[in-house]
Amino acid sequence: MFSQSPNALLVLGLLSHSPFAQCKQNTIIRDVAIIGGGASGTFSAVRLLDQGKSVVLIEKESILGGHTNTYLDPLTKQTVDYGVEVFHNQQVVKDFFAHLNVSWIITKPSFGASAPKYLDGNTAEQVNYTSPDPTAALIEYATQLSKYRQLELGFFLPDPIPDDLLLPFGEFLSKYPDIGNATFTIFRFGQGLGDFLEQPTLYVFKNFGLDVVQDIASGFLVTTNQNNYEIYDQATRILGPDALLSSCVVSTHHRDNSGVQLDVETPTGRRIVRAKKLLVAIPQKLENMSPFALDDRESGLFGEFMNTGYYTSLLNNTGLPANFSSWSVGANTSYHLPKLPGVYTVTSTAIEGIFDFKYGSPHALPDDYVRGEIASYVKKMQANGIAEKVPGEPEFVRFSSHTPFELTVSQEQIANGFYEELYALQGYRNTWYTGAAFHTQDSSMLWNFTDSTVLPALLK
Ligand SMILES: Cc1cc2nc3c(=O)[nH]c(=O)nc-3n(C[C@H](O)[C@H](O)[C@H](O)COP(=O)(O)OP(=O)(O)OC[C@H]3O[C@@H](n4cnc5c(N)ncnc54)[C@H](O)[C@@H]3O)c2cc1C
Ligand SMILES: *[C@@H]1O[C@H](CO)[C@@H](O)[C@H](O)[C@H]1NC(C)=O
Ligand SMILES: *[C@@H]1O[C@H](CO)[C@@H](O)[C@H](O)[C@H]1NC(C)=O
Ligand SMILES: *[C@@H]1O[C@H](CO)[C@@H](O)[C@H](O)[C@H]1NC(C)=O
Ligand SMILES: *[C@@H]1O[C@H](CO)[C@@H](O)[C@H](O)[C@H]1NC(C)=O
Ligand SMILES: *[C@@H]1O[C@H](CO)[C@@H](O)[C@H](O)[C@H]1NC(C)=O
Ligand SMILES: *[C@@H]1O[C@H](CO)[C@@H](O)[C@H](O)[C@H]1NC(C)=O
Ligand SMILES: *[C@@H]1O[C@H](CO)[C@@H](O)[C@H](O)[C@H]1NC(C)=O
Repeated sequence: MFSQSPNALLVLGLLSHSPFAQCKQNTIIRDVAIIGGGASGTFSAVRLLDQGKSVVLIEKESILGGHTNTYLDPLTKQTVDYGVEVFHNQQVVKDFFAHLNVSWIITKPSFGASAPKYLDGNTAEQVNYTSPDPTAALIEYATQLSKYRQLELGFFLPDPIPDDLLLPFGEFLSKYPDIGNATFTIFRFGQGLGDFLEQPTLYVFKNFGLDVVQDIASGFLVTTNQNNYEIYDQATRILGPDALLSSCVVSTHHRDNSGVQLDVETPTGRRIVRAKKLLVAIPQKLENMSPFALDDRESGLFGEFMNTGYYTSLLNNTGLPANFSSWSVGANTSYHLPKLPGVYTVTSTAIEGIFDFKYGSPHALPDDYVRGEIASYVKKMQANGIAEKVPGEPEFVRFSSHTPFELTVSQEQIANGFYEELYALQGYRNTWYTGAAFHTQDSSMLWNFTDSTVLPALLK
C-alpha cells in the first residue's frame, strides 16, 4: 500500500509513528460506512444516526449534496439553485426537512408564463415552433404509466417484461400517437436522458413517472429560501466528524460476512475504516467501483452500465436581455427535439445579468469542450441578435459536470433480467446499494426508496 505513494516524505512521515499507535489513531470503527454524500448517501447517514447507528460518510468533494448546486452571490447574498430544484410533496421529504429545520413551500411550475424563445440547441437560430398544450397527452401518458405502478417504488418489472417498456421511446410514441403532444414537455423536464427517442421506454417512465405528472398538476415542494444547499449544510453540521469530505476509498482490505475494512485517503492522511456494513451511494460505474475489490458477479453487472452527460453552468457578460429564457428545439427533427450534444435551456436567474445554461449529451464529454460549446452558443446568440454584442468573453461564474448522469443498460440486458440480478446484490458481501442507478434520478423518490426499502433490509 505504501509503495504506491509517490511522495517519499509522506512515507517517512508514516514510518515515524509506531505501527500500533498509528493503528489506534487512524482506525475509524462504525456500524455502517457510506460511500457518496449526495442525495441518497447524506439521507442514509442522517437516518441511520437517528436510528442509533454509528456511521461514517465518505465523500470525494469538499461539500455534501451531489447534484445540488447552489450559487451564493457575494454581493447581493442572493442564492440560485442551478442543479436540483424541486422536490415532491411527500411525507418522507417533509419529515427529512423538519429534521434538518429546512422550511419549504409548495409551488406550481409556471409553464409558458415567461414566454420562452424556441432556439435551435446548436445554432441558436430562432425556430418557428411553439410546443403544443401537453395536458391531454399527459393524461394519455399517465394512463400508460399506471399499468406499471410498481416502477414508482423501484426497478420492479413485471414478469415477463412487457415489450412496451423495452421499445425505444420513439417507437413507443409512434405506437401511442395521442402521447405525441407531451413529448417535448417530457423531454424538457426529464433532462439528462441523452438520446431520448432511443432510450428504452422504461427509463423515460422511471424519470418522468406518475408522481411527477401529479406534481405538475398540484405543485412541487421547494425550499422557502430557494437554497437547496441548506439541506446539506444542516446535514454536514449534524454529521460533524462522521462526514469525511474530500476523501476517497483507495482499496478494500476485505468485504465479507465478517464486515468491511477500507483504506481511505483523507486530507489529513490515510485512514482505515472498519464497519459492520457498507452502503454504496455513488454512481455504480465500474471505474467508480474498482477500489471495492469486486468479484466477477459484481463487476459483470456494474460493467453493463452506460451513461449520459449532463452539465450545468451560470454565465455573466452574455448580452442577453433581462428575464430572457429559451428552450432548445430542432428545426426539422422528430417532435422538434434538439440534437444533442447541445444546449437544453437558458434561463434568467434571480441575479441580474446571470443566466443558467444547461447542456446535455448522449455520452460523457470533456469539461473544457462543453465550456467551449456553451461560450460559442452565447457568441451565436450575439451574432444573430438574440443577445446584444458586448465587449469581452462570456464569463463562467460556475460550471458543474454532472457526468456520469443517467446510468442505463441495453434493452437486451433489461429483457434478460438485469434489474433482478442487480437487486439480488443487496446484502451480498455485507454491501448494500442505493442511488439513482438503483431507482431513479430524483432526490425525493430516492429518499423514500432508501428509507422504505434499502435501510430496513440493511438493518435486519
Ligand atoms: C442539473 C440537475 C438537476 C436536477 N434537478 C432535480 C430536481 O429538481 N429534483 C430532483 O429530485 N432531482 C433532480 N435531479 C436529480 C437528482 O439530483 C438525483 O436524482 C440525485 O442527486 C441522485 O442522488 P444520488 O445519491 O444517487 O447521487 P448524487 O447526488 O450524484 O451523489 C453521489 C455523490 O457521490 C460522490 N462520489 C462520486 N464518486 C465518489 C467516490 N468514488 N468516492 C466518494 N464519493 C463519490 C459525488 O461527489 C456525489 O456527492 C437533478 C440532477 C441534475 C444533474
Ligand atoms: C430553525 O430555523 C429557524 C429559522 O431559520 C431558526 O430561527 C432556528 O434557530 C432554527 N432552529 C434550529 C434548531 O436550528
Ligand atoms: C410559422 O409557422 C406558422 C405555421 O406553421 C406559419 O403560419 C407562419 O407563417 C410561420 N411564421 C414564420 C415567421 O415563418
Ligand atoms: C396536438 O396539438 C396540436 C396543436 O395544439 C393539435 O392540433 C393536435 O390535434 C394535437 N394532436 C393530438 C394527437 O392530440
Ligand atoms: C457580472 O459582470 C458585471 C459587469 O462586469 C459585474 O459587475 C458583476 O460583479 C459580475 N457578477 C458576477 C456574479 O460575477
Ligand atoms: C423581469 O421580471 C421581473 C419579475 O417578473 C420584473 O419585476 C422586471 O420588471 C422584469 N424586467 C424586465 C426588464 O422586463
Ligand atoms: C426536413 O427533413 C425532411 C426529411 O428528412 C426533408 O425531406 C426536408 O427537406 C427537411 N427540411 C428542411 C427545411 O431541412
Ligand atoms: C414509499 O415507499 C413505500 C415502500 O415501497 C411505498 O409503500 C410508499 O407508497 C412510497 N411512498 C411514496 C410517496 O411513493
